[in-house]
Amino acid sequence: MKLIIVSNRLPVSVKKEGNEFKFTKSAGGLVSGMSDFLNGLGKSKTDITEYVWMGWPGTTIDKEDEDSIRNKVQKEYNASPVFFSKSLMDKVYYGFCNRTIWPLFHYFPNYASFENEYWDEYKKLNQIFCDEVLKVIQPGDIVWVHDYHLMLLPAMLRDKIDNPIGFFLHIPFPSYEMYRLFPKESRDGILEGLLGADLIGFHTHDYAQYFLRTILRILGIENYMGTIDLPDRVIKVGTFPMGIEFEKFNKMDVSPNDSKKPGPDQPKIVLSVDRLDYTKGIINRLQGFEMFLRNNPEWHGKIFMNMILVPSRTGVTAYNQIKRRLDELVGNINGNYGTIKWTPIIYQYTSLAHKELIAQYRMSAVSLITPLRDGMNLVAKEYIASLQDQTGVLILSELTGAAKELSETIIINPNNINEIAEGIEEALKTPEEEQIYRNNLMQKRLKRYNVTFWANDFVNTLLDIYKETKITGEKKILKPEIVNNILNNYHNAKNKIIILNYDGTLVPFVKKPEDAFPGADLHKLIENINKKEKTDIVIISGRSKDQLDGWLGKTKVNLTAEHGVWICDADKKEWELFKPLSNEWKEEIMPILEMYTDRLPGSFIEEKEYSVSWHYHKADIWQSSFLVKEVSDYLLSMTTNIGVQVLHGKKVIEVSNSGINKGELAMHWVSKKDYDFILAIGAGWSDELLFKTLPEHAWTMRVGKLRTDAKYVLKKQENVIELLKTIEKK
Ligand code: UDP
Ligand code: G6P
Repeated sequence: MKLIIVSNRLPVSVKKEGNEFKFTKSAGGLVSGMSDFLNGLGKSKTDITEYVWMGWPGTTIDKEDEDSIRNKVQKEYNASPVFFSKSLMDKVYYGFCNRTIWPLFHYFPNYASFENEYWDEYKKLNQIFCDEVLKVIQPGDIVWVHDYHLMLLPAMLRDKIDNPIGFFLHIPFPSYEMYRLFPKESRDGILEGLLGADLIGFHTHDYAQYFLRTILRILGIENYMGTIDLPDRVIKVGTFPMGIEFEKFNKMDVSPNDSKKPGPDQPKIVLSVDRLDYTKGIINRLQGFEMFLRNNPEWHGKIFMNMILVPSRTGVTAYNQIKRRLDELVGNINGNYGTIKWTPIIYQYTSLAHKELIAQYRMSAVSLITPLRDGMNLVAKEYIASLQDQTGVLILSELTGAAKELSETIIINPNNINEIAEGIEEALKTPEEEQIYRNNLMQKRLKRYNVTFWANDFVNTLLDIYKETKITGEKKILKPEIVNNILNNYHNAKNKIIILNYDGTLVPFVKKPEDAFPGADLHKLIENINKKEKTDIVIISGRSKDQLDGWLGKTKVNLTAEHGVWICDADKKEWELFKPLSNEWKEEIMPILEMYTDRLPGSFIEEKEYSVSWHYHKADIWQSSFLVKEVSDYLLSMTTNIGVQVLHGKKVIEVSNSGINKGELAMHWVSKKDYDFILAIGAGWSDELLFKTLPEHAWTMRVGKLRTDAKYVLKKQENVIELLKTIEKK
């Protein structure tokens, strides 16, 4: 099985120096983690037999050089470069990606700039990536799209291909309040783009929940335990905390001289490693270290901070500003505290190869990681994994994804400088046995949930959800040959019955319930079918009998109102109760619903004779998600012993007499004759029981939902009309 990895950046970055091209490993956790997973492919159990990594080589390349770059990266890195112009690089990579999305997703709205042009160019860049993927993709290949640069790509690809598409976000997904700062077009567009994937993965449960809440609030799309039902697909949203290649960091052979911790007479090392990014809390870290020095003069000369800062996104102003502040602060601290023999802070502005980095990890007594926000932070995991003697203390910001898994470390809030200073004190006081105990626990976890586990877990979940959707879709989405079978059955049958739900089936769902009246065309269609030989039609609706009577009373079809409370036989033309029922319970229920209607603006009560519906589709979606649970629980506790049922439908709570449902009612109609053709179509939760109850030979169909008990699925309401028209012509 071939895996197509698509990320903005390739694992290798190209730079032109004079007439020569230089190739260096790209910076960042995405490249580190994915490269380690891919290098280990042969060693682990996986169905992936080949891969190609598609992405940007990190700079603009002249047309005449493209072929040679392509050949080189293809041969040496299994990579396929996606080239784009300097203008796109400026407006998308330096623009929308790193001046808009990055600051907003990391809770730095003051750094975010919103330019319409950026968004337009972002769409163009995603389209370029889409076209490149379409050139190479084959049936059966898996596409795995990575990170915030390519959030529109899943939907663009979904439009064109039928392969499994996964998306993983390597940075935090912010809370709704932050996300909504995006202008409307990009706010909706990003979410719709992501929903093209079959599986959307995040590092932590929080990010996944924020995403689910955001699509609920912005697009009104609900989920059930992270699963989203679309008319023809099912999407899964899940948590996949990215791991590291534990064995590499733990076992890497580094000469002891290069990685030994300093002796008792030498200064201890506090290490920090990150890309030079304002999200990493570097200024806070320096201030915390300074406070530590101020509060602990006995440590002067006996400790120093070794900061490794990898140059990053130097084309963005905020990054250059932070570099200037940092230089200043390091200069001040070293000036104020340093001596001729001791420099408190040493800083390297460079990127080290993993072997050198592991040496630095092993020789440091403390690792100080202080992001103000970080999707995961692999450095924290790498530090713990590298400690062969299991001594060393990690101080970790609670605002990183990694803090969720490394709870045995010293967890601090980097916004509180005091906590950083005290964290260093605590780390230096931690007894060696305690360090070994904690690191041992964390190492075991990191060993098990390593990067291979992470990637396999993601890919396997993607394949499972894709296969499930595919199998169900192939079996259920109504195909022309099934329509032919239905028509043949209809033609040959002696007695025929067609049971139709109203809202969402015969007419589209509308915002105002009273707007859903049937037009002349629908009337004509129903009447024409009804006139056909030996054909009975039953319309089963949750609407009140008066409304249904007003809309369809003139047709000669059988009607059923209030989800089965009332029936009106076409021959008798008289409404009667399906069963003897009571409505005394309404006296108790109504005041409760009225109270909640006052509390939830936009909700309203629809009182029918023997049932009550509480609608909240016009209410604020977020507020209702809490109140609705409360209302249901309250009503359920009140109605347990009085023969009343509380059912939860699509943005509606229905209270009615127990035992009234569409299943029972449908049986009433189908048992009237020996029907050898039964067609039942529904679009809501209450139709599911109908599908389950009807005899095996019934053709049952659900509109707009793949996970259903109906045998077939019609993607849209219009498809119902199309199907009925073919019956009309038969
Ligand atoms: N890294 C590296 N050389 C360095 C500094 C860092 O190779 O000199 C790697 C480090 O090993 C880690 C990655 O860069 O795998 C940084 O990932 P992290 O998740 O910590 O942060 P990001 O840069 O993705 O925000
Ligand atoms: C983070 C992002 C990656 C990105 C990396 C380096 O890890 O999640 O997508 O590649 O930073 O940033 P750069 O802008 O150099 O690609």
